[in-house]
Amino acid sequence: MKNAHEIIEKNVGLLTILILVAISLGAMVEITPLMFQQQTMKPVDGLEPYTALEMEGRDIYIREGCVGCHSQMIRPFRAETERYGHYSVAGESVWEHPFLWGSKRTGPDLARVGGRYSDEWHRVHLRNPRDVVPESNMPGFPWLFENQLSGELTAKKLAVFRDFGVPYTDEDIAGAKAAVEGKYEIDALVAYLQSLGTALK
Ligand code: HEC
Repeated sequence: MKNAHEIIEKNVGLLTILILVAISLGAMVEITPLMFQQQTMKPVDGLEPYTALEMEGRDIYIREGCVGCHSQMIRPFRAETERYGHYSVAGESVWEHPFLWGSKRTGPDLARVGGRYSDEWHRVHLRNPRDVVPESNMPGFPWLFENQLSGELTAKKLAVFRDFGVPYTDEDIAGAKAAVEGKYEIDALVAYLQSLGTALK
């Protein structure tokens, strides 16, 4: 038994299997408890589901690729919390499907951008960012001011989120189309941006 480890070290197949077993156990110990912890599963107090208009805005955010340049995840480091506010907590994201945490920051983090600027500032900025931030290299999105929402799929989107556990009522879903129909895409996107990070300030 003196050199029992030699048997494993000289047998690639056995070594591979034992490495996989070790990693799987480690991962289970780390990950499984997170699926049952209140801290990660429970919405923070004051968290509201997206309104129908915000939901459409969120889809425009996804469609236009904003997530490719903006994160929505403030890390618990001083340099970040002083700039962006309280670090992001899991309970703020429990109703996000999928998460838009992002991983690239060409522009600033947007996790708490809600309420930081006026609606009018966002409208000017999104039409042509250089009108308010001369050195900006963010693209403009002028078509958002022309495209109107039909609301065809809004009720369905809310219903799918309800299947995922977001507490929408029957009235929310029934009224979804009327709440967005005829509005412009820019209205939806600005409503979405203004909602970000406001549950926990
Ligand atoms: C090519 C990268 C890029 C893309 C794509 C992009 N942005 Fe930006 N964004 C930036 C940069 C850089 C800044 C910082 C300069 C400025 O304020 O314009 C910025 C700034 C912002 C700000 C101001 C944040 C603050 O705290 O000052 C908001 C809000 C914003 N972007 C929203 C959006 C939205 C919504 C979209 C998608 C429709 C989008 N951005 C797409 C790069 C990008």
